[in-house]
Amino acid sequence: WGKTGHRVVGAVAQTYLSQSADTGVKDILGPEGIAEAADWPDHMRSNPDPFWRSEANPWHYVTIPVGQTYAQVIPPPEGDAITALAKYRAIAIDPTAPLEQRQLALRFIIHIVGDLHQPLHVGNGTDRGGNQFVCTFFDEMSNLHEVWDELLINYQELSYTEWTEWLVQKITPNQLAEWAKASPADWADESAAIRDTIYPDTQILSYDYAYQTRDIIRQQLSKGGVRLAAYLNEMFETMTPDA
Ligand code: ADE
Ligand code: ZN
Ligand code: ZN
Repeated sequence: WGKTGHRVVGAVAQTYLSQSADTGVKDILGPEGIAEAADWPDHMRSNPDPFWRSEANPWHYVTIPVGQTYAQVIPPPEGDAITALAKYRAIAIDPTAPLEQRQLALRFIIHIVGDLHQPLHVGNGTDRGGNQFVCTFFDEMSNLHEVWDELLINYQELSYTEWTEWLVQKITPNQLAEWAKASPADWADESAAIRDTIYPDTQILSYDYAYQTRDIIRQQLSKGGVRLAAYLNEMFETMTPDA
């Protein structure tokens, strides 16, 4: 996602944080909220430091070929979003790790859970997650990946807080319980299944495509937020009280 998508996932998650996760997050991030932290790894992508320029890049997505599940995939040696998530989970809850490292870890976690819910961040291995699918969106040159990261969300002309209010209002207790059960591999498999349905049969996208995809966008942002909350709640429960 772009800025708005990541902030919405973060702000939806904030709504469902347990007391201990809320405290745990504040202890690590300080006054910076989850929504603010959410898009930080993307800002850093233009940082000339090699860590940001190349090393961290593969941690924003996973590749699952059509017809496969994440369980069948051998992650690349440089890692992917799911291996990075597990690595940063361990650092974020390690009370002996330096605060700066735990901050970086938590910001990545918040960001990666969001990205795993962007269907094209689970690429099929043929077109860099839709980056190579050239198209126009309301006559503007773009590509399918960018359409999903930003343009479909911006098209709604809602602020991230408006999005969040709108989505949270519609999330039922049943959905909350169901969605929270899934594992990161399940999130990726779901995204891959959605991904296979969203390739348009034209390169000229406008109203029709925005309308057809509206419910998927809403659902993925809602699920991302609920699952980020569940992930953080579980993480901070695991920590010993005196840690
Ligand atoms: N590069 C290669 N695959 C990608 C994906 N799914 N998302 C973003 N960047 C990528
Ligand atoms: Zn993206
Ligand atoms: Zn990202």
